[in-house]
Amino acid sequence: MNTSIQFQPFSGFTADAIVFAAAEGTPPSTGVSSIDLWAAKLYQSGEFTGKPYEIAILHQPTALAASRAVLIGAGKAEKLDSSSIRRLGGAVVRSLKAKSMANIAFVVDQSLQNPDYVQALAEGAVAGDFEPDEHKTKKDSKHIESFVLLANNGPSTLAEAFRAGAVIGEAQNFARALVNEPGNLLTPLKLAERARLMAESQGLVCDILDEDRMTQLGMGSLLAVSQGSAEPPALIVIEYKPADPKPGVHLGLIGKGVTFDTGGISIKPSENMEKMKYDMAGGAAVIGAMMAIAQLKPNVTVTAFIPTVENMPSSKAVKPGDIVKSLAGKTVEILNTDAEGRLILIDAITYAKSLGVNCMVDSATLTGAISIALGAVNVGAFSNDEIWQNQVLSAAKAAGEKMWPMPMDDDYKELLKSAFADMPNIGSRGAGSITAALFLKEWVEDTPWVHLDIAGTAWIDDGKPFLSKGPTGISLRTFVALAQSLA
Ligand code: BES
Ligand code: MN
Ligand code: ZN
Repeated sequence: MNTSIQFQPFSGFTADAIVFAAAEGTPPSTGVSSIDLWAAKLYQSGEFTGKPYEIAILHQPTALAASRAVLIGAGKAEKLDSSSIRRLGGAVVRSLKAKSMANIAFVVDQSLQNPDYVQALAEGAVAGDFEPDEHKTKKDSKHIESFVLLANNGPSTLAEAFRAGAVIGEAQNFARALVNEPGNLLTPLKLAERARLMAESQGLVCDILDEDRMTQLGMGSLLAVSQGSAEPPALIVIEYKPADPKPGVHLGLIGKGVTFDTGGISIKPSENMEKMKYDMAGGAAVIGAMMAIAQLKPNVTVTAFIPTVENMPSSKAVKPGDIVKSLAGKTVEILNTDAEGRLILIDAITYAKSLGVNCMVDSATLTGAISIALGAVNVGAFSNDEIWQNQVLSAAKAAGEKMWPMPMDDDYKELLKSAFADMPNIGSRGAGSITAALFLKEWVEDTPWVHLDIAGTAWIDDGKPFLSKGPTGISLRTFVALAQSLA
């Protein structure tokens, strides 16, 4: 999909459709009387009310060069914000491509001439065009060829905002495509290769630690997870260093990259196991965020760490009761091999700290329990530092990604006791997402840190009017907004 913003009147613009946002209860006033009359009649008759994503189409509008005029319901005017506008952008693209329109233009009227809104429109439209059909030889899904925002004479900041939105939307789709790849095609080394190619094309430095280097360093916890698989592990490190970085800040982004999670010896039930290809969604979000950061160039040093493994049962696999030594020197008793995400994350966290990261966020499909707590709506946000947590949560809010602060007070530590090692890798009962976060915290120590449990939100089983089913790319936009807010 080609995207652009153009500063010209919509009436002379040639396209399959010129789209007008139409608020609930108030017909739009476009300045073209025949369009306004058509809209007013639709509202009067009740055929169109302006509820979110409703559509009305007028063919061969006399006053327009385009072949159709389209109204899309934007919902209540007082509920209009970046989030609702992002979804509106997605819904325009999804509903019109379903009707085989290829070239569409969306009118940015006075009420939408705001950089945040224009960025959100671009993000939503680009993300809306994504379909998880990479491996269908007969593609039945349709795509938009060109999506143009038409602003009459808005400020020039709108063009910059539009570009940022398109960059972020493309990065999100890049991450979603990675998440959608099945475990046979996207092994840990393939993920590392895709990350390296992205980094090279964006001028980022990429270092991929292989099994030997990790053995030498002593990453016993990460390696315990990968030892059961024929696929070798990797730790992907991607560096972004601007010319004149803000002193004293080194942001670390850490993403869980389990390319397939069978559970290992503590094997998962076969029902829905195919979905465990999305167990690298945190890693993909981090890689995608670096792709956007490289282009938007915030003035802050950011390093990404993606530990990537396949979790398999085999005669070589780690077993319940096995004790391993992590990079930090602390020992872990592996009571359940299906709690593997935390085992690979702790070695990545220790490595990140050794490279000088002084504030960090991790994103991981860590626990099924987070979907019990928060469903598919909010990401669980755990932290050891309230100020840092608030900063991450405001970035999430600005980026339109719903996140909710979760408790992790020391009282829960009672549940994490090992008789034979420093820590067990699972808690005794209840509060599964919290004990997982508390486990990570033992390795984070005092560095300001937020852990995002995205197990409930990284994949949607049903499509939405503004987003296809499958991978969502959640946490990527927050990472980008966070880097920008630190700069
Ligand atoms: N990758 C899973 C978590 C998950 C579950 C992600 C469902 C997405 C959807 C993780 O590795 C896991 O298996 N967690 C266990 C932890 C348990 C053994 C303490 C879980 O949630 O059951
Ligand atoms: Mn698991
Ligand atoms: Zn997992």
